[in-house]
Amino acid sequence: MSVLLVVSALIVVLAIVYQKWLYKYIGSDNRKKYFAELLKDFPKLYNPKTKPMKQKLFESLIKTKEEICVLEIGIGSGGNFDFYPESKCRLIANEPNQYFHQILSDNVAKYPQIILSRISSSSADNLQDIGDATIDAVISTVVLCSVPNVANTLDAILRVLKPGGKFYYMEHELDPKFTWWRKLQEMIDFFGIWTFLFDGCHASRTTGNLIKDSGLLSVDQDRFYLNPVGFWGLYIIKPHVYGVAMKTAIKSEKSLDL
Ligand SMILES: C[S@@+](CC[C@H](N)C(=O)[O-])C[C@H]1O[C@@H](n2cnc3c(N)ncnc32)[C@H](O)[C@@H]1O
Repeated sequence: MSVLLVVSALIVVLAIVYQKWLYKYIGSDNRKKYFAELLKDFPKLYNPKTKPMKQKLFESLIKTKEEICVLEIGIGSGGNFDFYPESKCRLIANEPNQYFHQILSDNVAKYPQIILSRISSSSADNLQDIGDATIDAVISTVVLCSVPNVANTLDAILRVLKPGGKFYYMEHELDPKFTWWRKLQEMIDFFGIWTFLFDGCHASRTTGNLIKDSGLLSVDQDRFYLNPVGFWGLYIIKPHVYGVAMKTAIKSEKSLDL
């Protein structure tokens, strides 16, 4: 027992020392560059595995006929453009990592109905360069794991949405079941190495519940487990939550039937 305690304590100390060293010698800019390079093709891996859920999630958005203003937070290389409205829409692309910007601009050019108004570089947890009640739809896929504070991000989304505006999300989260998997996710976050490797990503956030507890209303939400075959990292982010929330209490006309 005491040997186990000593070994555990040693691991904790080593992990802390190791991280301080890593953060000191591999600067933030280099990590951003490496992360953009690593993740630029992420949608090619993620979209085939989530296609049925994304189709269901974005059904009402795809069918939108009037010109709307969409804000996608942490947009990366723009992996959701296939699920944008079929008719014209204006896009504010939020992405603080500048190394994604060129890839994003090249990608959006393939979708003539999407008018890129501008790229916002603010953090999603304040969206300081976006006005109050100016956005019809906010999109977030695999981003709330990385923002510094989820509650502040949800407050910012609530602020920028027009009354009746919708928040579409698909996020990985802590396994809601008390499995050894959940323990592993908690351990990974405790040691922080996952967060370091994947630009602030956390494996053990309770994102679904945080959205339900936010000021967003009419939350239509469900969960699924991602099929991780093909990339080891996806095993850690298997448990997923997705849904649509609204700024007002009006129940959405057509439920997602999640
Ligand atoms: C796993 S990638 C997902 C990219 C994209 N949403 C997709 O589904 O392909 C996470 C994204 O969140 C962005 N991100 C990290 N911290 C952020 C923050 N504080 N505010 C906004 N975006 C952030 C990263 O730069 C990255 O583009």
